[in-house]
Amino acid sequence: MGMVQIAPSLLAADFSRLGEEVRRVAEGDLLHIDIMDGNFVPNLSMGPQVVAALRDQSPLPFDVHLMLRRPLRYIPIFREAGADIISFHIECEDDPEALLRAIEASGAKPGIALKPGTPAQALEPFGDRLATATVMTVEPGFGGQTLMRAPLEKIPWLKRRFPKLLVEVDGGVNRETAGKCIAAGADILVAGTAVFRAEDPRRAMEALRSAKRDGK
Ligand code: DX5
Ligand code: ZN
Repeated sequence: MGMVQIAPSLLAADFSRLGEEVRRVAEGDLLHIDIMDGNFVPNLSMGPQVVAALRDQSPLPFDVHLMLRRPLRYIPIFREAGADIISFHIECEDDPEALLRAIEASGAKPGIALKPGTPAQALEPFGDRLATATVMTVEPGFGGQTLMRAPLEKIPWLKRRFPKLLVEVDGGVNRETAGKCIAAGADILVAGTAVFRAEDPRRAMEALRSAKRDGK
């Protein structure tokens, strides 16, 4: 089994100096970028212009997490802005088949995100076509929340059913909770607050990467 990958989440960065912030996390594996529409979730974050402006500031693949009620029309736009992975929520209102086709046609890798209360089995028809599945361990919309443990129980099923799928855990991942995510089988840890609000983001990412499996 490979080492867990770290995806710093830009939502927790200092928005007054995003370019610098992105350069501070260049030792991560992916840059996680949360896109919110004030509708699917009760918050707004950033749009494709911000993603495009950051593209040449970072060597990392851009992992774009769309928290949009109707993401379909934005797929080519975020691809054009520089997204490498595009994830939508299975709970959104567009047809998942149409969304997957649009992402595949764009050339990006497809992912699907699950809210904490959505069962893993919702991915049954799509898992073979996905690069990533994002298991949310907080209700989407805001950074800095506390990790819910119950959603981690979806991971073993996802890994067994779709062995090639990379599972991301998103929400409340920090030094204390990373070990539980790793023990549950996470491939990618998304971390906003724990990385960007740390004195030294690089060391914070190292701490997450080397967190001990915590099966308790
Ligand atoms: C929440 C976002 C997360 C968020 C995580 O809706 O999807 O990616 O940035 O933030 P932390 O790591 O602070 O919980
Ligand atoms: Zn996210």
